[in-house]
Amino acid sequence: MASSYIHPSLTPLGPYSLDPRFALTSSTTTTTHISSDRGASGSAEASSSSVSSSSDYVANPFTKINNRSYFRDPENPYPLPCDLPEIHRQSLRTMTLMRVFGAPSCAPQLEGKSPKRVLELACGSGLWSSACHDYLARRGQKDTTFIGLDIISLAPNLRKKGVNWQFVRHDLRKPSLPFPSEHFDFVFIKDASLCQSATAQQIDLLSEPLRVLKHGGVLEVWDSDYVFRALLPNPTPPPKLAEKDQDQAYTTATYTISSATPFAAAQNKYLLDYNSWVEKAFEKHKLSAMPCATIGLSFTAEADAFQRVGSRRIAIPLGAEVRWEQTKKQRKLTADQLSLRQMALLTIIQMIEGMEPILKEASGKSQDEWDRWWAAMTVDLLQKNGLANGECLEVGAWWGQKG
Ligand SMILES: C[S@@+](CC[C@H](N)C(=O)[O-])C[C@H]1O[C@@H](n2cnc3c(N)ncnc32)[C@H](O)[C@@H]1O
Repeated sequence: MASSYIHPSLTPLGPYSLDPRFALTSSTTTTTHISSDRGASGSAEASSSSVSSSSDYVANPFTKINNRSYFRDPENPYPLPCDLPEIHRQSLRTMTLMRVFGAPSCAPQLEGKSPKRVLELACGSGLWSSACHDYLARRGQKDTTFIGLDIISLAPNLRKKGVNWQFVRHDLRKPSLPFPSEHFDFVFIKDASLCQSATAQQIDLLSEPLRVLKHGGVLEVWDSDYVFRALLPNPTPPPKLAEKDQDQAYTTATYTISSATPFAAAQNKYLLDYNSWVEKAFEKHKLSAMPCATIGLSFTAEADAFQRVGSRRIAIPLGAEVRWEQTKKQRKLTADQLSLRQMALLTIIQMIEGMEPILKEASGKSQDEWDRWWAAMTVDLLQKNGLANGECLEVGAWWGQKG
Protein backbone atom coordinates (compact mmCIF):
# COMPACT_ATOMS: atom_id res chain seq x y z
CA MET A 1 0.00 0.00 0.00
CA ALA A 2 1.17 3.55 -0.69
CA SER A 3 2.74 5.35 2.23
CA SER A 4 -0.27 7.63 2.69
CA TYR A 5 -3.56 6.95 1.04
CA ILE A 6 -6.46 9.39 0.64
CA HIS A 7 -9.58 7.84 -0.77
CA PRO A 8 -10.88 9.56 -3.92
CA SER A 9 -14.42 9.42 -2.58
CA LEU A 10 -13.45 12.17 -0.19
CA THR A 11 -13.21 14.66 -3.01
CA PRO A 12 -16.51 15.58 -4.64
CA LEU A 13 -17.19 13.14 -7.46
CA GLY A 14 -19.74 10.84 -8.90
CA PRO A 15 -23.52 10.97 -9.10
CA TYR A 16 -24.07 10.41 -5.39
CA SER A 17 -22.28 13.58 -4.39
CA LEU A 18 -24.01 15.64 -7.09
CA ASP A 19 -27.53 14.76 -6.07
CA PRO A 20 -28.30 16.68 -2.83
CA ARG A 21 -30.57 13.83 -1.67
CA PHE A 22 -27.56 11.54 -1.61
CA ALA A 23 -24.92 14.04 -0.53
CA LEU A 24 -22.11 12.69 1.61
CA THR A 25 -22.25 15.08 4.48
CA SER A 26 -18.77 14.25 5.68
CA SER A 27 -16.89 13.67 2.47
CA THR A 28 -15.89 17.19 1.68
CA THR A 29 -14.85 18.13 5.19
CA THR A 30 -13.19 14.99 6.48
CA THR A 31 -10.01 13.36 5.38
CA THR A 32 -9.68 9.77 6.49
CA HIS A 33 -6.62 7.83 5.58
CA ILE A 34 -4.82 4.67 6.41
CA SER A 35 -1.10 4.87 6.12
CA SER A 36 1.43 2.09 6.19
CA ASP A 37 3.94 4.08 8.23
CA ARG A 38 1.86 4.10 11.36
CA GLY A 39 3.76 2.12 13.99
CA ALA A 40 3.22 -1.35 15.32
CA SER A 41 -0.53 -1.70 15.14
CA GLY A 42 -1.05 -0.01 11.79
CA SER A 43 -4.16 1.78 12.94
CA ALA A 44 -6.59 3.77 10.83
CA GLU A 45 -6.19 7.46 11.37
CA ALA A 46 -8.82 10.10 10.89
CA SER A 47 -8.15 13.78 10.75
CA SER A 48 -10.50 16.56 9.89
CA SER A 49 -9.96 19.68 7.88
CA SER A 50 -12.87 21.24 9.73
CA VAL A 51 -13.01 21.98 13.44
CA SER A 52 -14.77 19.02 15.04
CA SER A 53 -16.34 18.71 18.45
CA SER A 54 -15.60 15.73 20.72
CA SER A 55 -19.05 14.35 19.91
CA ASP A 56 -18.50 14.63 16.15
CA TYR A 57 -18.04 10.94 15.47
CA VAL A 58 -18.01 11.47 11.70
CA ALA A 59 -15.02 13.80 11.62
CA ASN A 60 -13.26 12.13 14.52
CA PRO A 61 -14.43 8.51 14.58
CA PHE A 62 -11.71 6.56 16.45
CA THR A 63 -10.42 5.94 19.92
CA LYS A 64 -7.28 3.96 20.80
CA ILE A 65 -7.39 0.99 23.15
CA ASN A 66 -4.21 -1.09 23.62
CA ASN A 67 -2.76 0.43 20.47
CA ARG A 68 -5.78 -0.61 18.36
CA SER A 69 -8.37 1.77 16.86
CA TYR A 70 -12.07 1.36 17.66
CA PHE A 71 -15.15 3.42 16.88
CA ARG A 72 -15.51 6.08 19.54
CA ASP A 73 -19.28 6.60 19.20
CA PRO A 74 -20.80 4.90 22.28
CA GLU A 75 -24.01 4.37 20.28
CA ASN A 76 -22.17 2.32 17.65
CA PRO A 77 -22.24 -1.35 18.76
CA TYR A 78 -19.53 -2.44 16.24
CA PRO A 79 -16.98 -4.25 18.48
CA LEU A 80 -14.07 -4.90 16.10
CA PRO A 81 -11.08 -2.61 15.54
CA CYS A 82 -10.72 -0.45 12.43
CA ASP A 83 -7.06 -0.77 11.56
CA LEU A 84 -4.69 -2.51 9.20
CA PRO A 85 -4.40 -5.82 11.15
CA GLU A 86 -8.20 -6.04 11.19
CA ILE A 87 -8.41 -5.29 7.46
CA HIS A 88 -5.92 -8.10 6.87
CA ARG A 89 -7.98 -10.42 9.04
CA GLN A 90 -11.14 -9.57 7.12
CA SER A 91 -9.32 -10.12 3.83
CA LEU A 92 -8.23 -13.56 5.04
CA ARG A 93 -11.84 -14.35 5.97
CA THR A 94 -13.10 -13.14 2.56
CA MET A 95 -10.55 -15.34 0.78
CA THR A 96 -11.52 -18.30 3.00
CA LEU A 97 -15.19 -17.89 2.13
CA MET A 98 -14.55 -17.40 -1.58
CA ARG A 99 -12.53 -20.63 -1.50
CA VAL A 100 -15.23 -22.67 0.22
CA PHE A 101 -18.06 -21.22 -1.90
CA GLY A 102 -15.91 -21.49 -5.05
CA ALA A 103 -16.59 -17.94 -6.34
CA PRO A 104 -17.38 -14.41 -5.12
CA SER A 105 -21.09 -15.17 -5.53
CA CYS A 106 -23.22 -18.26 -4.95
CA ALA A 107 -26.32 -16.94 -6.74
CA PRO A 108 -26.83 -18.96 -9.92
CA GLN A 109 -28.77 -16.02 -11.43
CA LEU A 110 -25.46 -14.23 -11.93
CA GLU A 111 -23.91 -16.93 -14.10
CA GLY A 112 -23.67 -15.77 -17.68
CA LYS A 113 -25.23 -12.40 -16.79
CA SER A 114 -23.31 -9.19 -16.33
CA PRO A 115 -24.64 -6.94 -13.57
CA LYS A 116 -24.23 -3.32 -14.68
CA ARG A 117 -24.26 -1.78 -11.20
CA VAL A 118 -23.16 -3.60 -8.03
CA LEU A 119 -23.46 -2.29 -4.46
CA GLU A 120 -21.28 -3.71 -1.68
CA LEU A 121 -22.61 -2.71 1.75
CA ALA A 122 -20.16 -2.41 4.68
CA CYS A 123 -17.44 -2.91 2.07
CA GLY A 124 -14.40 -2.43 4.36
CA SER A 125 -11.31 -2.85 2.18
CA GLY A 126 -13.43 -3.45 -0.94
CA LEU A 127 -11.63 -6.76 -1.46
CA TRP A 128 -14.86 -8.49 -2.41
CA SER A 129 -15.70 -5.83 -5.07
CA SER A 130 -12.20 -6.18 -6.45
CA ALA A 131 -12.45 -10.00 -6.55
CA CYS A 132 -15.91 -9.83 -8.12
CA HIS A 133 -14.60 -7.41 -10.75
CA ASP A 134 -11.75 -9.82 -11.59
CA TYR A 135 -14.17 -12.76 -11.67
CA LEU A 136 -16.53 -10.97 -14.09
CA ALA A 137 -13.62 -9.64 -16.19
CA ARG A 138 -12.29 -13.20 -16.62
CA ARG A 139 -15.66 -13.98 -18.18
CA GLY A 140 -15.34 -11.01 -20.52
CA GLN A 141 -17.67 -8.77 -18.47
CA LYS A 142 -15.75 -5.57 -17.91
CA ASP A 143 -18.35 -2.81 -17.79
CA THR A 144 -19.68 -3.32 -14.25
CA THR A 145 -19.68 -0.33 -11.87
CA PHE A 146 -19.00 -1.14 -8.21
CA ILE A 147 -20.22 1.13 -5.41
CA GLY A 148 -18.75 0.41 -1.97
CA LEU A 149 -20.48 1.78 1.13
CA ASP A 150 -19.05 1.89 4.63
CA ILE A 151 -19.16 4.13 7.70
CA ILE A 152 -15.46 4.80 7.20
CA SER A 153 -13.28 4.93 4.13
CA LEU A 154 -10.93 1.97 4.30
CA ALA A 155 -10.65 0.75 0.74
CA PRO A 156 -7.66 1.54 -1.45
CA ASN A 157 -8.24 3.24 -4.78
CA LEU A 158 -9.63 0.32 -6.74
CA ARG A 159 -9.77 2.53 -9.84
CA LYS A 160 -5.99 2.12 -9.97
CA LYS A 161 -6.63 -1.62 -10.37
CA GLY A 162 -9.01 -0.99 -13.24
CA VAL A 163 -12.20 -1.36 -11.20
CA ASN A 164 -14.94 1.12 -12.07
CA TRP A 165 -15.37 1.94 -8.38
CA GLN A 166 -16.89 4.62 -6.20
CA PHE A 167 -17.01 4.84 -2.45
CA VAL A 168 -19.93 6.24 -0.46
CA ARG A 169 -19.53 6.97 3.22
CA HIS A 170 -22.74 6.20 5.07
CA ASP A 171 -23.91 4.87 8.43
CA LEU A 172 -26.05 1.75 8.02
CA ARG A 173 -27.89 2.56 11.24
CA LYS A 174 -29.64 5.37 9.38
CA PRO A 175 -33.13 4.42 8.23
CA SER A 176 -32.45 4.56 4.50
CA LEU A 177 -29.66 3.94 2.03
CA PRO A 178 -28.46 7.00 0.07
CA PHE A 179 -29.55 5.64 -3.32
CA PRO A 180 -32.69 5.80 -5.42
CA SER A 181 -35.06 2.84 -5.59
CA GLU A 182 -34.38 0.10 -8.15
CA HIS A 183 -30.89 1.32 -8.89
CA PHE A 184 -28.67 -1.77 -8.61
CA ASP A 185 -28.51 -5.13 -10.38
CA PHE A 186 -26.70 -6.82 -7.51
CA VAL A 187 -26.40 -5.94 -3.81
CA PHE A 188 -23.81 -7.85 -1.78
CA ILE A 189 -23.37 -7.75 2.00
CA LYS A 190 -20.61 -9.64 3.79
CA ASP A 191 -19.91 -9.81 7.53
CA ALA A 192 -22.06 -6.78 8.29
CA SER A 193 -24.10 -8.26 11.12
CA LEU A 194 -22.13 -6.32 13.74
CA CYS A 195 -23.03 -2.94 12.20
CA GLN A 196 -26.55 -2.92 13.62
CA SER A 197 -28.31 -4.20 16.70
CA ALA A 198 -29.83 -7.68 16.48
CA THR A 199 -33.30 -6.15 16.86
CA ALA A 200 -32.77 -3.70 13.98
CA GLN A 201 -31.61 -6.61 11.83
CA GLN A 202 -34.56 -8.81 12.74
CA ILE A 203 -36.98 -6.04 11.83
CA ASP A 204 -35.30 -4.55 8.82
CA LEU A 205 -32.19 -6.30 7.54
CA LEU A 206 -33.28 -6.66 3.92
CA SER A 207 -35.87 -3.96 3.27
CA GLU A 208 -33.49 -1.15 2.22
CA PRO A 209 -31.19 -3.43 0.16
CA LEU A 210 -34.35 -4.71 -1.55
CA ARG A 211 -35.62 -1.18 -2.21
CA VAL A 212 -32.45 -0.14 -4.06
CA LEU A 213 -32.37 -3.40 -6.04
CA LYS A 214 -33.92 -3.54 -9.53
CA HIS A 215 -36.63 -6.08 -10.28
CA GLY A 216 -34.82 -9.22 -11.38
CA GLY A 217 -31.71 -8.07 -9.49
CA VAL A 218 -29.95 -10.28 -6.94
CA LEU A 219 -29.37 -9.71 -3.23
CA GLU A 220 -26.71 -11.88 -1.60
CA VAL A 221 -25.58 -11.95 2.05
CA TRP A 222 -22.57 -13.81 3.50
CA ASP A 223 -21.88 -14.06 7.21
CA SER A 224 -20.23 -16.16 9.92
CA ASP A 225 -21.35 -17.12 13.41
CA TYR A 226 -19.50 -15.77 16.44
CA VAL A 227 -20.24 -18.72 18.73
CA PHE A 228 -18.45 -21.96 17.93
CA ARG A 229 -19.85 -25.48 18.02
CA ALA A 230 -18.35 -28.90 17.28
CA LEU A 231 -19.38 -30.94 14.28
CA LEU A 232 -20.20 -34.52 15.30
CA PRO A 233 -18.80 -37.50 13.35
CA ASN A 234 -20.00 -38.52 9.90
CA PRO A 235 -22.16 -35.56 8.86
CA THR A 236 -23.93 -36.58 5.66
CA PRO A 237 -24.38 -34.03 2.87
CA PRO A 238 -27.90 -32.66 2.37
CA PRO A 239 -29.76 -34.98 -0.04
CA LYS A 240 -30.48 -32.29 -2.65
CA LEU A 241 -27.00 -30.76 -2.71
CA ALA A 242 -25.99 -29.85 -6.29
CA GLU A 243 -23.12 -31.91 -7.68
CA LYS A 244 -21.02 -28.77 -8.16
CA ASP A 245 -21.44 -27.84 -4.47
CA GLN A 246 -20.72 -31.41 -3.39
CA ASP A 247 -17.49 -31.34 -5.46
CA GLN A 248 -16.53 -28.01 -3.90
CA ALA A 249 -17.09 -29.42 -0.39
CA TYR A 250 -15.00 -32.49 -1.27
CA THR A 251 -12.20 -30.38 -2.76
CA THR A 252 -12.02 -28.10 0.25
CA ALA A 253 -12.71 -30.84 2.89
CA THR A 254 -15.55 -28.77 4.34
CA TYR A 255 -19.02 -29.90 5.37
CA THR A 256 -22.32 -28.61 4.00
CA ILE A 257 -24.75 -27.89 6.83
CA SER A 258 -28.43 -28.83 6.71
CA SER A 259 -31.04 -28.92 9.47
CA ALA A 260 -29.97 -32.55 10.06
CA THR A 261 -26.26 -31.81 10.54
CA PRO A 262 -25.24 -33.04 14.00
CA PHE A 263 -23.54 -30.46 16.24
CA ALA A 264 -22.52 -30.51 19.90
CA ALA A 265 -21.16 -27.81 22.18
CA ALA A 266 -17.49 -27.00 21.62
CA GLN A 267 -15.23 -29.10 23.83
CA ASN A 268 -12.14 -26.93 23.84
CA LYS A 269 -11.87 -25.14 27.19
CA TYR A 270 -10.70 -21.87 25.65
CA LEU A 271 -13.42 -21.76 23.00
CA LEU A 272 -15.96 -22.50 25.73
CA ASP A 273 -14.63 -19.54 27.74
CA TYR A 274 -14.76 -17.34 24.64
CA ASN A 275 -18.30 -18.53 23.74
CA SER A 276 -19.64 -17.60 27.16
CA TRP A 277 -17.94 -14.17 27.12
CA VAL A 278 -18.98 -13.30 23.58
CA GLU A 279 -22.59 -14.22 24.32
CA LYS A 280 -22.55 -12.03 27.41
CA ALA A 281 -20.82 -9.12 25.64
CA PHE A 282 -23.05 -9.30 22.56
CA GLU A 283 -26.15 -9.40 24.72
CA LYS A 284 -24.98 -6.23 26.44
CA HIS A 285 -24.31 -4.51 23.11
CA LYS A 286 -27.51 -5.96 21.59
CA LEU A 287 -25.60 -7.82 18.87
CA SER A 288 -26.39 -11.19 17.37
CA ALA A 289 -23.80 -13.89 18.18
CA MET A 290 -25.35 -16.28 15.64
CA PRO A 291 -26.24 -14.07 12.64
CA CYS A 292 -26.58 -17.05 10.31
CA ALA A 293 -29.89 -17.90 11.99
CA THR A 294 -31.11 -14.28 11.84
CA ILE A 295 -30.22 -13.85 8.16
CA GLY A 296 -31.96 -17.09 7.16
CA LEU A 297 -35.10 -15.89 8.96
CA SER A 298 -34.92 -12.48 7.25
CA PHE A 299 -34.92 -14.13 3.82
CA THR A 300 -37.90 -16.26 4.88
CA ALA A 301 -39.72 -13.16 6.18
CA GLU A 302 -39.19 -11.37 2.82
CA ALA A 303 -40.16 -14.44 0.76
CA ASP A 304 -42.87 -12.49 -1.09
CA ALA A 305 -40.31 -9.99 -2.39
CA PHE A 306 -38.25 -12.68 -4.13
CA GLN A 307 -38.89 -14.82 -7.19
CA ARG A 308 -36.31 -17.36 -6.10
CA VAL A 309 -34.10 -17.79 -3.06
CA GLY A 310 -31.26 -20.11 -2.14
CA SER A 311 -28.69 -20.64 0.58
CA ARG A 312 -25.59 -22.60 1.49
CA ARG A 313 -24.28 -23.18 5.00
CA ILE A 314 -20.79 -24.60 5.48
CA ALA A 315 -18.80 -25.81 8.48
CA ILE A 316 -15.03 -25.42 8.24
CA PRO A 317 -13.22 -27.53 10.87
CA LEU A 318 -10.63 -25.41 12.63
CA GLY A 319 -6.88 -25.88 12.49
CA ALA A 320 -6.19 -29.44 11.41
CA GLU A 321 -7.73 -32.87 10.96
CA VAL A 322 -10.61 -33.70 13.26
CA ARG A 323 -10.13 -36.81 15.43
CA TRP A 324 -13.06 -38.62 13.81
CA GLU A 325 -11.66 -37.85 10.35
CA GLN A 326 -8.38 -39.53 11.31
CA THR A 327 -10.10 -42.74 12.35
CA LYS A 328 -12.18 -42.93 9.16
CA LYS A 329 -9.12 -44.07 7.22
CA GLN A 330 -10.08 -41.60 4.52
CA ARG A 331 -7.54 -39.84 2.33
CA LYS A 332 -5.22 -37.52 4.24
CA LEU A 333 -5.97 -33.83 3.99
CA THR A 334 -4.00 -32.06 1.29
CA ALA A 335 -1.80 -29.04 2.03
CA ASP A 336 -4.49 -26.78 0.51
CA GLN A 337 -7.23 -28.23 2.69
CA LEU A 338 -5.09 -27.92 5.80
CA SER A 339 -4.16 -24.32 5.03
CA LEU A 340 -7.85 -23.44 4.60
CA ARG A 341 -8.51 -24.75 8.12
CA GLN A 342 -5.47 -22.89 9.44
CA MET A 343 -6.69 -19.70 7.78
CA ALA A 344 -10.15 -20.09 9.31
CA LEU A 345 -8.56 -20.61 12.74
CA LEU A 346 -6.26 -17.62 12.33
CA THR A 347 -9.22 -15.35 11.53
CA ILE A 348 -10.86 -16.51 14.75
CA ILE A 349 -7.81 -16.05 16.98
CA GLN A 350 -7.26 -12.59 15.53
CA MET A 351 -10.96 -11.79 15.97
CA ILE A 352 -10.76 -12.73 19.67
CA GLU A 353 -7.70 -10.49 19.93
CA GLY A 354 -9.62 -7.64 18.22
CA MET A 355 -12.57 -8.04 20.57
CA GLU A 356 -10.36 -7.97 23.66
CA PRO A 357 -11.97 -4.84 25.19
CA ILE A 358 -15.50 -6.29 25.29
CA LEU A 359 -14.43 -9.89 25.99
CA LYS A 360 -12.12 -8.89 28.84
CA GLU A 361 -14.94 -6.89 30.39
CA ALA A 362 -17.38 -9.81 30.02
CA SER A 363 -14.84 -12.23 31.52
CA GLY A 364 -14.24 -10.00 34.56
CA LYS A 365 -10.49 -10.61 34.14
CA SER A 366 -7.78 -8.10 34.96
CA GLN A 367 -5.30 -7.26 32.17
CA ASP A 368 -2.74 -9.72 33.63
CA GLU A 369 -5.32 -12.49 33.90
CA TRP A 370 -6.49 -11.78 30.36
CA ASP A 371 -2.90 -11.84 29.02
CA ARG A 372 -2.27 -15.22 30.69
CA TRP A 373 -5.53 -16.61 29.31
CA TRP A 374 -4.68 -15.27 25.85
CA ALA A 375 -1.18 -16.80 25.86
CA ALA A 376 -2.46 -20.21 27.03
CA MET A 377 -5.29 -20.09 24.45
CA THR A 378 -2.97 -19.43 21.51
CA VAL A 379 -0.59 -22.23 22.58
CA ASP A 380 -3.48 -24.68 22.95
CA LEU A 381 -5.12 -23.77 19.62
CA LEU A 382 -2.03 -23.27 17.49
CA GLN A 383 0.54 -25.65 18.95
CA LYS A 384 -1.28 -28.37 20.87
CA ASN A 385 -3.99 -29.09 18.29
CA GLY A 386 -6.60 -28.36 20.95
CA LEU A 387 -9.41 -28.33 18.41
CA ALA A 388 -9.42 -31.97 17.26
CA ASN A 389 -13.02 -32.54 18.38
CA GLY A 390 -14.67 -30.92 15.37
CA GLU A 391 -14.93 -27.30 16.52
CA CYS A 392 -15.64 -25.35 13.37
CA LEU A 393 -16.34 -21.99 11.80
CA GLU A 394 -19.93 -21.88 10.52
CA VAL A 395 -20.46 -19.64 7.52
CA GLY A 396 -23.41 -19.05 5.26
CA ALA A 397 -24.52 -17.49 1.99
CA TRP A 398 -28.13 -16.52 1.24
CA TRP A 399 -29.39 -15.06 -1.99
CA GLY A 400 -32.59 -14.13 -3.70
CA GLN A 401 -33.74 -12.66 -7.00
CA LYS A 402 -36.14 -9.76 -6.56
CA GLY A 403 -39.57 -10.44 -8.02
C1 LIG B 1 -16.45 -7.14 9.67
S1 LIG B 1 -16.16 -5.77 8.61
C2 LIG B 1 -16.52 -6.49 7.02
C3 LIG B 1 -15.96 -5.69 5.91
C4 LIG B 1 -16.14 -6.32 4.52
N1 LIG B 1 -17.54 -6.53 4.22
C5 LIG B 1 -15.38 -7.62 4.48
O1 LIG B 1 -16.02 -8.66 4.54
O2 LIG B 1 -14.14 -7.58 4.41
C6 LIG B 1 -17.54 -4.73 8.90
C7 LIG B 1 -17.48 -3.39 8.20
O3 LIG B 1 -18.63 -2.66 8.62
C8 LIG B 1 -18.27 -1.31 8.77
N2 LIG B 1 -19.26 -0.70 9.67
C9 LIG B 1 -19.35 -0.79 11.01
N3 LIG B 1 -20.40 -0.12 11.46
C10 LIG B 1 -21.01 0.43 10.37
C11 LIG B 1 -22.15 1.23 10.17
N4 LIG B 1 -22.90 1.62 11.21
N5 LIG B 1 -22.48 1.61 8.92
C12 LIG B 1 -21.72 1.24 7.86
N6 LIG B 1 -20.62 0.45 7.97
C13 LIG B 1 -20.28 0.06 9.22
C14 LIG B 1 -16.86 -1.35 9.32
O4 LIG B 1 -16.18 -0.13 9.06
C15 LIG B 1 -16.29 -2.54 8.56
O5 LIG B 1 -15.65 -2.12 7.37
